[in-house]
Amino acid sequence: MSTLKIEQVSKLFRSTSRGGGLTAALRKVSFDIPQGEVITLIGESGSGKSTLGKVILRLIQPTSGSITLDGKDIAKYPQRDYYRHVQGVFQDPFSSYNPIYQADRVFELVRGTYFPKVSNAEWDAKLEGALDAVALNPADVLGKYPHQLSGGQQQRLLIARALLLDVKFLVADEIISMLDASTRVDILNLLVKLKRQGLAILFVTHDLSLGNYVSDRTIILRHGAIVEMGATPRVFGNPQHDYTKMLLTAVPELRKKWKHTPLGPVTAAREGVIAVDSALATDVISANGSGAVATAVAHATLLDELSHAEAVVKRDLRAVFSREGRGSTAVATLLEPPRLVEFEPDHLVAEPE
Ligand SMILES: Nc1ncnc2c1ncn2[C@@H]1O[C@H](COP(=O)(O)OP(=O)(O)OP(=O)(O)O)[C@@H](O)[C@H]1O
Ligand SMILES: [Mg+2]
Repeated sequence: MSTLKIEQVSKLFRSTSRGGGLTAALRKVSFDIPQGEVITLIGESGSGKSTLGKVILRLIQPTSGSITLDGKDIAKYPQRDYYRHVQGVFQDPFSSYNPIYQADRVFELVRGTYFPKVSNAEWDAKLEGALDAVALNPADVLGKYPHQLSGGQQQRLLIARALLLDVKFLVADEIISMLDASTRVDILNLLVKLKRQGLAILFVTHDLSLGNYVSDRTIILRHGAIVEMGATPRVFGNPQHDYTKMLLTAVPELRKKWKHTPLGPVTAAREGVIAVDSALATDVISANGSGAVATAVAHATLLDELSHAEAVVKRDLRAVFSREGRGSTAVATLLEPPRLVEFEPDHLVAEPE
């Protein structure tokens, strides 16, 4: 049985803007991915999920720490050998294709690199097997250009490409967030089936309910550090870290009927949530004779406010990092994660930072 071992992996990005601030995208992250296990990686935007996936896929170099596959540093594997066992699928499947070529060129590239001596008949049988595993009908997808395929078909083709290789580890980074509900379920069921066949999956998601559905173990990442991890039923059933609890309360309750309470400009302004441009709202109301458009304006303003707030927080963080980011002691402090303590068997929780 193969294992990918991630040990004390840190990644520090230096901003290219003036001032050269530092971002600690990963702070001494350690965990194992044994073959056949699905691990869900959860955290809000910017918590370091994709950075971790990219480090595992050798797309970026860690600043420190090590990743080994069966005891050997992944950097030491020839590229061809490594990608035979470790593959990635990303959020936007379309961007993985070259739009001027037919989508199945991704298979030809695999053939050229890994199976140049395989006969046509043998290759066709292999390809059919991979497409069958992801429930795609060859006639529906072969010979088509990427824009002629649905997002779900594009995503499945990429998973099929990974299956053509002797892949043991799959990094799946937000692969279903762009798909409609029924395609999501199909892809999730496919992942569960592949897991049963021995594939290990690092499943990156914002969506905690999906994580709960597919994974054996869960890792919660915050500001590049693990704040809670363990067996999924333990982390979800008895969350200990405030951040995990916060994320869990944000999950919509599936059985509860959703009550629509429109956020009108008046309520919003009274509660001090947003400053509605009331002149504009009044204009819109009188022009349409209804509050619906005004409500939409209020929502748009709210979204603007939120993204502005996010930008301000990011700017402040950059300022802090650029002040503190001088000298190796400051960098070491920046990378120091909170200490993980065993709460119960197979359930670690970080001390407050
Ligand atoms: N190439 C880069 N150069 C500089 N900073 C980067 C780079 N890539 C990522 N970062 C920063 O590292 C942090 C982690 O980014 P990352 O993409 O890993 O987050 P994420 O958890 O995948 O977020 P999302 O859920 O939005 O995809 C962010 O602060 C991001 O701005
Ligand atoms: Mg990401």
